[in-house]
Amino acid sequence: MSEKHYSAALEIIRHRRLTAQSDREKHILELRTRVPEIEEINNMISQASVNILKVISKGENVREEMKKLEEQNTEAQEMMRGLLVKNGYPENYMDINYTCRRCSDTGFTSEGRCSCLEELAGKLAVKELNESSPLNLSTFSTFDLEYYRGVSTDTDSNCYSTMSNIYNYCRKYASSFSHDSANIFMSGETGLGKTHLSLAIAERLLSENYSVVYGSVINFIDRIESEHFGRSAGDTLSVLINAELLILDDLGSEYDKQFTTATLYNIINTRLNKRLPTIISTNLSFEEIEARYEQRIVSRIISEYDYLPFSGNDVRQLKKAASIRQKRNQG
Ligand SMILES: Nc1ncnc2c1ncn2[C@@H]1O[C@H](COP(=O)(O)OP(=O)(O)O)[C@@H](O)[C@H]1O
Ligand SMILES: [Mg+2]
Ligand SMILES: [Zn+2]
Repeated sequence: MSEKHYSAALEIIRHRRLTAQSDREKHILELRTRVPEIEEINNMISQASVNILKVISKGENVREEMKKLEEQNTEAQEMMRGLLVKNGYPENYMDINYTCRRCSDTGFTSEGRCSCLEELAGKLAVKELNESSPLNLSTFSTFDLEYYRGVSTDTDSNCYSTMSNIYNYCRKYASSFSHDSANIFMSGETGLGKTHLSLAIAERLLSENYSVVYGSVINFIDRIESEHFGRSAGDTLSVLINAELLILDDLGSEYDKQFTTATLYNIINTRLNKRLPTIISTNLSFEEIEARYEQRIVSRIISEYDYLPFSGNDVRQLKKAASIRQKRNQG
């Protein structure tokens, strides 16, 4: 994780702390007018700590006196909770309600960075990488199978049935996602809904708080390359390698050179070894893939990915044609 993400996360955590404290101040002011007895008890509690100090400085019967004071303190706390509940407030209404109890929203514990800081910095890194795609437009409910009805191609006599299976597979994948989920290889010509269905999966899992990174191969490689050669700061490679689900869209769109192939192999291979699921989509045919990538990548993809062959007519074109027709009918 890079410093940038840590400091942005720390800002958010500090803000949580201030909000928690000011919420408590508000509660105290509110109770002062609504349940005045509370303030008396509260004063008793603060007096108790003053008394403890006195006992200690006097140095007589310290243990006994302390025990007595502690009992009084517990009693006062209990009275306060009782009063709160009686007046219709939650019993912890006077407590500071931190988002993270472990670090009281400071971001640090005695052992260093708190897990809430690590987690939030990770989320920010993922968010930065995710391309600004219209996630809410590409959902399962906006995916229409009618575009494939009655369509056949050279290799597929019933695109509707193929695409129904693919659609159901993806829905099920999203609804039952876990760390044991399969890898997916989506292939097919442009405009058949590969990006749409990958984004539908991403949207669903992001809403369940999984760390999902999605984007086009060309964009990821560009970032990694410029970070690798020191032209920009960042940790794209490690975010891609560690995401709970990685979606590599448009394999084949990147420039064909050694750095690219080596990086892709590194990502794909490391994720397979870590058993972290990956979704790859491409417009390339198997023939083109074999010509372009090293045999070791191709064979791992073939053996360890579920293959989804998209087929049909370019939906983008179909939509355009439909909207032209509609305009003509209106005019
Ligand atoms: N079955 C479908 N129902 C509704 N919209 C679709 C469908 N398939 C594709 N689209 C839309 O058509 C456009 C192209 O689809 P896209 O998923 O980008 O294709 P691909 O990634 O296979 O090239 C997108 O705007 C997408 O939302
Ligand atoms: Mg696409
Ligand atoms: Zn914390």
